Amino acid sequence: KRRRFTAFLDWRKWKRVVRVLKELEEGCETPVGRLRQVVDAMAVEMHAGLASEGGSKLKMLLTFVDHLPTGSEIGTYYALDLGGTNFRVLRIQLGGRRSSILSQDVERQPIPQHLMTSTSEDLFDFIASTLKHFVEKEESGSEPSPVRTRELGFTFSFPVKQSSLRSGILIKWTKGFAIEDMVGKEVVELLEAAMVRSGLDMRAALLVNDTVGTLALGRYHDADTVAAVIIGTGTNACYLERADAIIKCQGLLTTSGYMAVNMEWGNFWSSHLPRTSYDIDLDSESPNPNDQGFEKMISGMYLGDIVRRVILRISLESDIFGPVSSRLSIPFILQTPLVAAMHEDDSPELKEVAKILKETLGISEVSLKVRKLAVRICDVVTRRAARLAAAGIVGILKKIGRDGSGGTTGGRSKSDVKMRRTVVAIEGGLYTSYAMFRQYLHGALGEILGEDVAQHVVLQVTEDGSGIGGALLAASYSSILQRG
Ligand code: GLC
Repeated sequence: KRRRFTAFLDWRKWKRVVRVLKELEEGCETPVGRLRQVVDAMAVEMHAGLASEGGSKLKMLLTFVDHLPTGSEIGTYYALDLGGTNFRVLRIQLGGRRSSILSQDVERQPIPQHLMTSTSEDLFDFIASTLKHFVEKEESGSEPSPVRTRELGFTFSFPVKQSSLRSGILIKWTKGFAIEDMVGKEVVELLEAAMVRSGLDMRAALLVNDTVGTLALGRYHDADTVAAVIIGTGTNACYLERADAIIKCQGLLTTSGYMAVNMEWGNFWSSHLPRTSYDIDLDSESPNPNDQGFEKMISGMYLGDIVRRVILRISLESDIFGPVSSRLSIPFILQTPLVAAMHEDDSPELKEVAKILKETLGISEVSLKVRKLAVRICDVVTRRAARLAAAGIVGILKKIGRDGSGGTTGGRSKSDVKMRRTVVAIEGGLYTSYAMFRQYLHGALGEILGEDVAQHVVLQVTEDGSGIGGALLAASYSSILQRG
């Protein structure tokens, strides 16, 4: 009798769990029809953001980058890449012949947590002194100091309203940064003041978003590159737009007729996005509620926290995870690389899952069935993220007439339109280091576009593109300026 009663309790408990899981699955559903609605909404918002300032949640920011590297750049350039959990300083030597990077040195440093919410002076002093040490190390033992001032490409991966290639003000912070005194300030001025304070002779030649750096490196290697996407701590995209399509900026003069536009797609929103109660709570408890809605469903900063919230909810509703662990209530304690590790655990006993549940979330001794449930949650959350990112990419392709639908070619059927090879440069840990994410993203691209079109779309990983691309652009513009 007692055994039957335990079995009954067990059944009741799992019924509750299954209900929560089912609700999650339904809430995160991304059938291809819905993805197509997201594609259309993305293209519509792109138009609106280009038409007028504030016309859309998509800011569609001007970058003033109207030339991309060709491969003939030459000389030694520095870059500073600030925008995620790490910041990087690098130096590259360019050979001047088709895409030859002779040498490239990179130094990565985590940004001390307290500096992300401190003052702009503290942050930039730290950066300038790191940069100075790097320069000294790189140049020690080489020829006497250079005759010309060193040039730096500054990759700053936050929304910036630019007024020229090398000037722009920070619109707002994203990705957990919150240095209040910096909002509205000229970013390059702050960096240059800190470089002067530290006694470093260097000039910031230009200011770019990481997506633009990635686009530049993509183009350096492949002339068919037309857009770039980042899916890392945050997510965003940029692409090459015709200057005359940037209606909000009439009479925009570019020598090429094109300009890279930083979409800031992390802030995209549409009623077609599959939103759950976990997303709503995550957003309202974040320092930037109602902002970066797309980013909060897709990027590395948030996926782990969505998974944590689901596990917490299940834990509160049943005891399958044992007594409610206090760690489950700590925001951001479960980071996305751990979600990837659980999701991709292929050991028969799911040892890695058990380890992460125990060491990170304080949940010990759970059965295989419960471990499988944890994997399932990771799967649902990651799949939605990857498929939405794919829809975003197709939105861009649609806007520029590369989605195979005929676009501006005027009503011809899909098979009549000869698809051009289209390369999208891509960077960020979620895409590069999370195989399941990548797989889901590619799967969704194929579903939305159809395989016949999708085969012409190449997602090309550009490692360290954001930083290297910044240096390449500094080189490219410096030669344009020299030529007059
Ligand atoms: C955030 C930033 C954006 C950046 C992206 C990827 O969305 O606002 O500027 O490109 O993260 O790093």
